[in-house]
Amino acid sequence: MSDPQPVYLSDYQPPDYLVTHTELTFDLDPTATRVKARLHIERNPAAALSAPLVLDGENLTLVSLGLDGTALEERDYVVSDTTLRIEHVPERFCLESEVEIDPNSNTALEGLYRSSGMYCTQCEAEGFRRITYYPDRPDVMATFKVTVIGDPAREPVLLANGNRVEQGERDGRHFAVWEDPHPKPCYLFALVAGDLCKTSDRFTTQSGREVALEIWVEEENLDKTGHAMASLKRAMAWDETTYGREYDLDLFMIVAVNDFNMGAMENKGLNIFNSAAVLTHPDTATDAAFQNVEGIVAHEYFHNWSGNRVTCRDWFQLSLKEGFTVFRDQCFSADTNSAPVKRIQDVSFFRTAQFAEDAGPTAHPVRPDHYIEITNFYTLTIYEKGAEVVRMLCNLIGWEAFRRGADRYFERFDGCAATIEDFVGCMEDASGERLDQFMRWYSQAGTPEVDAFGEYDYVHGEYRLTLRQRTPATPGQNEKLPLHVPVRLGLVGTKSGQDLTLTLDGESLGKEGVIHLRQAEQTFVFENVAEAPVPSLLRGFSAPVLLHYPYSREELAFLLTHDSDGFNRWDAGQRLSMLALDDLIAAHRNGVEKVMDTRVVEAFRTLLDGEVSDKAVLAEMLTLPTEAYIAEQQRIVDVDAIHAAREFMRQSLAVALRDEFIATYEANASDEPYAPTPEQIATRSLKNVALAYLMAIEDAKGLELCQAQFAAGRNMTDVRQALTLLVHSDRQDLAAPALKTFGEKWAHDSLVMDQWFTVQVTRPQPDVLERVEYLMDHPAFSIKNPNKVRALIGAFTQNRVNFHRLDGQGYRLLADVVIELNRLNPEIAARLITPLTRWQRFDESRQALMRQELARIKKEPLSSNVYEVVEKALA
Ligand code: ARG
Ligand code: ZN
Repeated sequence: MSDPQPVYLSDYQPPDYLVTHTELTFDLDPTATRVKARLHIERNPAAALSAPLVLDGENLTLVSLGLDGTALEERDYVVSDTTLRIEHVPERFCLESEVEIDPNSNTALEGLYRSSGMYCTQCEAEGFRRITYYPDRPDVMATFKVTVIGDPAREPVLLANGNRVEQGERDGRHFAVWEDPHPKPCYLFALVAGDLCKTSDRFTTQSGREVALEIWVEEENLDKTGHAMASLKRAMAWDETTYGREYDLDLFMIVAVNDFNMGAMENKGLNIFNSAAVLTHPDTATDAAFQNVEGIVAHEYFHNWSGNRVTCRDWFQLSLKEGFTVFRDQCFSADTNSAPVKRIQDVSFFRTAQFAEDAGPTAHPVRPDHYIEITNFYTLTIYEKGAEVVRMLCNLIGWEAFRRGADRYFERFDGCAATIEDFVGCMEDASGERLDQFMRWYSQAGTPEVDAFGEYDYVHGEYRLTLRQRTPATPGQNEKLPLHVPVRLGLVGTKSGQDLTLTLDGESLGKEGVIHLRQAEQTFVFENVAEAPVPSLLRGFSAPVLLHYPYSREELAFLLTHDSDGFNRWDAGQRLSMLALDDLIAAHRNGVEKVMDTRVVEAFRTLLDGEVSDKAVLAEMLTLPTEAYIAEQQRIVDVDAIHAAREFMRQSLAVALRDEFIATYEANASDEPYAPTPEQIATRSLKNVALAYLMAIEDAKGLELCQAQFAAGRNMTDVRQALTLLVHSDRQDLAAPALKTFGEKWAHDSLVMDQWFTVQVTRPQPDVLERVEYLMDHPAFSIKNPNKVRALIGAFTQNRVNFHRLDGQGYRLLADVVIELNRLNPEIAARLITPLTRWQRFDESRQALMRQELARIKKEPLSSNVYEVVEKALA
């Protein structure tokens, strides 16, 4: 077999044939489902008269084929592993096909598959071709009519997109007919059949349309749908008030599925969710899970406009829908919860994980120009960096113009498959701003680094700020051009502690402004600056760049208490901690005694003394940079030194501020019944951060509070935190019984067992690898279930000290799992390899061990997914 070949954006050609209407009939059977398709096809006016019809199809057994009522003979068409080709077809015709597929053996979870006995589908990006022969590309849009035939006992519920127009029984089977009046690409097709129960609600749109809302789950999960339903209604209202967009069908359904490769999928009118992204209950889901569900429900709902009504011309444009929709869900969550905390959490994740991706061998632009396997491109760059790019656009032209541009985009491209130029073009039209340089954000990979230097001139009352940008080379892109970087900033007076008025070129920007860095180097001279300032740069993380400014610890401590921007106050704290951590890492490496920087202790004391009123922000400020984030700051990562330094710092803070942490814990303990409100979540976060510090020194008081919190069993947020702290402590005499109690209590609940796995394999003690191997044989584990793989194997690879064991056994374990999953579920296998692709960042012996495992994987007969990642990693 030859190596998989890339597809190029520059090769895009419009389709030769369009499908105007698609009729499908599914006769369900676990191993032999029959799919009949009647495709109403027209030659694209732009296509050559002689163009052959080429349809995509994979893993299909063709039963029969006909054209306008006449059966086709085998000499009339050619079937390959991936296509069906008919050389001569009329200008307009109906193609009738029947194929057989095997949902039971579909472990890749793409196309039609079975999960816990139910039938469900995942078609984005190219799964529809595993259901029937079809032009499987997003720029072919058709109306759909779908008949689902099933067994009334096994599959009492039969669902598809749109509205149910008919149902009935025939020969001991039953059927339902669904019609979707909105033309859609086939990646938005969905079908669900099984023994499901629903929760129902209603929503009236701003124009008065009555929409029935349904969440379909297995019966035992009916009590876990309330939060998703409430989130859905909030999201529907938010999209009306914020973007003027309302829902366009009479029915909106969500289905929870246990085996799912991603979070969820925005199929028209029938969103399919990973059960982890929809089910919540105070006893089983943490606050973070509640917030995640709210965000994902909103994300998928928002796709109804940004994705479905206006879709992507081709998969290179994926960020057109994903970046915009992530931006929309981020704003929704910010409006619904604590806005600064939402930003802090998004950015701290982004700077760790996306920056790492952008610096590694799989780095790619927000709009890639080639790919081998599109499922490998559902990445942090496409989603999260894409969202940062849209956020910059919004900040550059202002919300009013951005909203006008969005209106224009939704109107002009409604029912169309659009490109990123179309979107940015609408923003240009609406604002009158030229965005050609800005477009480089879509085509250049890599994280731009911005070096900043400031100088205060007492004599002239001027502050000169010099900014220099450079983007490091990334694979296949050596030359980088300067980007248009919006830098939001303030100058905080060192005497007054206040934001000073910014005057640039005689023009006043007020107390906060945005300067536009467009060249490789630019100096901005602020006039009439009355006192020496400390610059507060990149407020709110106004651009996805790595900013270097030579702040002193005194300046950072000053910003920590005086910056008017909540995000930058937090960031100043992170920078201050980082400087102290650097010293501790150096001390560890040099084998000298570690000494805690008292400035950090005093800064934390100030925070705990009630300096910050938003408890959710305070909890974030008291949290040290993660080991993964610290690692990102080092060229060659020293796993053990990072862990030792961070632990030393946590313990020093706990020793110095023990009484304050106890007081914080006690002041925030509450008996209120659980609610996922921002106030309660903030209080619990703060309390649990305090508990984590107390458990860092494992003294009697901390252990007592922790055990009591576990035993009280008030809600999963508190229980999980207490369990984690016990299991990650050195007190295995206390941890073992807690784990046992928890495991027995929740043995019946798959999503809770996922948490039970994760807690065990993230502990820092050195026996974890053996624990992973042991747990892989646990009856609750299954390598075929992506949530289980993520909870056990994925979580283990984030356990830095254990995954990066010097004997290479962590790498070996991962490679073994990847090799097995390569056959079962290539998408999950390819994702799981990520930590091994970062070998360049480690010392020579680890590099050799990691490359050795990559090479071992490469010797296997590989799926195109795994092939693409391994090939890049070893290039
Ligand atoms: N469009 C979905 C979402 O972001 C994700 C679909 C991912 N599909 C896949 N095969 N990776 O909401
Ligand atoms: Zn999405």
